[in-house]
Amino acid sequence: MFRNRRNRKQLYSTPDYWNSKAVELEGDAVSMWPNNNLNRLYHREQLSIIDALLPDVEGRTVLDIGCGTGRIARYLAGRGARVDGVDFSERAIEIARGLSTGPNPSYEVESMFNLSAVDRYDIVVSWGSVAIACKNADELGIAMTGIVRAARSGARILLLEPIHTGFLHRVLDLGIAEFADVMRAAGVSVTDIRPLHFWPARLALSYISLPNFVTAPGYRLGQSVMRTVPSLRLGDYTAIAGTVEK
Ligand SMILES: C[S@@+](CC[C@H](N)C(=O)[O-])C[C@H]1O[C@@H](n2cnc3c(N)ncnc32)[C@H](O)[C@@H]1O
Repeated sequence: MFRNRRNRKQLYSTPDYWNSKAVELEGDAVSMWPNNNLNRLYHREQLSIIDALLPDVEGRTVLDIGCGTGRIARYLAGRGARVDGVDFSERAIEIARGLSTGPNPSYEVESMFNLSAVDRYDIVVSWGSVAIACKNADELGIAMTGIVRAARSGARILLLEPIHTGFLHRVLDLGIAEFADVMRAAGVSVTDIRPLHFWPARLALSYISLPNFVTAPGYRLGQSVMRTVPSLRLGDYTAIAGTVEK
């Protein structure tokens, strides 16, 4: 696991890595971390920020980029949206399809660098895929241009991503302000930037499958510190949302 983290720049941007996680792990750990107790808490945190920033999804068309096994796609479909999930990991898409009970969400194997849709979506979301797929600002620009092309004018974009420079960065080594600038250059008017997933607790709790009586209090304490002192930038992830202007 730690070797994987050291080699993350090569690994995370290949479908093979995400296919192998799907074979080795189970539940949300396939697309998140080995500690499924923490994954459940993070899942709830993500849904509450999605509800806050995308209050009106019923009847809307939604694209979930890097959808993994479809956690967020299923949630949004349950709220009445028509959701397409895309991911370049064949195994993740196979699992997502297996977890479906009907045609919505629908899933395709597709890279975010080659999105086929044009002017189709009212909402585009992602958790943890864009800052993992893009190696630099140029690649982020290519991905954002494809996302904007796939979206309709006036569409909402909500990206929940590990946006960092230095120690905490995954693949993309870019600050939040620069990330927002790339979104603006692609045609997104950025409206919200919020922290999520207190990073010290994430580093301490995510890699080992700890019981919930250890995971939950550590997680909750971290969340309250992160929210009380936002200026410290204690979020491992950033929710960055905006509106497409075409
Ligand atoms: C951390 S997982 C998140 C999965 C999912 N969004 C979730 O919330 O459970 C990152 C996902 O991004 C996908 N991914 C990485 N690079 C991609 C690319 N270039 N195109 C499409 N998907 C990609 C991986 O296959 C993986 O499923």
